[in-house]
Amino acid sequence: MIVLGIETSCDETGVALYDTNKNQIIGEALYSQVKTHAKYGGVVPEIASRDHIKKLLPLFDESLKEAKISQDKIDAIAYTQGPGLIGALLSGVSFARSLGFALQIPTLGVHHMEGHLLVPMLSSELIKPPFVALLVSGGHTMLVDVERLGKYKILGETLDDAVGEAFDKTAKMLGLGYPGGPKLASLAEFGDSCAYNLPRPMLKKPGLDFSFSGLKTAVLTQIQNNEEKIKDKKFIEDLAASFQAAAVETLIARCTKAMKLTKREILVVAGGVSANCNLRERLKATGVLKNFDVFFPEAKYSTDNGAMIAYAGALRFLAGQKDKDFASLKSAVKTRWNLEELSAIR
Ligand code: KG4
Ligand code: ZN
Repeated sequence: MIVLGIETSCDETGVALYDTNKNQIIGEALYSQVKTHAKYGGVVPEIASRDHIKKLLPLFDESLKEAKISQDKIDAIAYTQGPGLIGALLSGVSFARSLGFALQIPTLGVHHMEGHLLVPMLSSELIKPPFVALLVSGGHTMLVDVERLGKYKILGETLDDAVGEAFDKTAKMLGLGYPGGPKLASLAEFGDSCAYNLPRPMLKKPGLDFSFSGLKTAVLTQIQNNEEKIKDKKFIEDLAASFQAAAVETLIARCTKAMKLTKREILVVAGGVSANCNLRERLKATGVLKNFDVFFPEAKYSTDNGAMIAYAGALRFLAGQKDKDFASLKSAVKTRWNLEELSAIR
């Protein structure tokens, strides 16, 4: 079966073709709107929707070309149904359902975070439920217990900012532009992570929730106390490294606690922040020490992409699921959507 995946929840337009027989992505194309939004300091929803509409067809053609197939070889279409920006999601669903109608093939709405959660399975057959997932992106930070595929229990989540959002906001305060998360991470490599004593939020609190707004405020206080150094390269690198250490250590402490409480042996880490090399290295080392296996997606599938939607959709299509009323756009998208509401895949 060949499944087309369409991702348009925020500012990346992702298209991919997944072949279930080969267990492989056979064609993919991605367009990032980052440069367009950078001059506004954040995503402008109306511009995002328009850009998705412009890019979907060319990217679709590009992925067909890479896969060396014609569109009549596609068996089903999965698209991101939510959560995300309403106009951006509507661009994707309109494209996916119109194409499904034209080709007379089934469509299915996929939860964006389930896409992130499942895509590491594409590169490792060792990931099998039950496991715990740490989902870390620009909009979400949560620990999820995966008893069965599709059956999710949220163990803890952020009470305020998502960790990716904290990376981006801290980067902005340091004058690194938007979206500064990856830039902050690369500057942190050169800094001294002990230079500034920043809080590890929530670690003394019971449960598995997160909070990152206090950490962000602590960075702001350091900037205000050292105004004369704000253009100083060493100051920026040291503060970036100190922030990254605090964020990463907080995530690791919460994961270690979740693994202990659930007694699971596998930890899957996914979402944009899972691209962070420091998090990858330190979490792997923690796994060795505490006796659990840690898995990440292939680096290019950490941040938003079409492959994760094609893959998650394919697992659901194979289990016989599909949209019931695909000609209608009524309640076609869900800007907010709790992972726990999903049905089991198998
Ligand atoms: O999953 P994603 O692509 O989009 C959402 O679903 O939000 O995640 C984007 C987030 C951004 O906040 C970005 O700054 C962060 O992931 N990110 C990183 C790194 N690469 C992307 N954060 C820290 N280190 C990185 N290397
Ligand atoms: Zn995402």
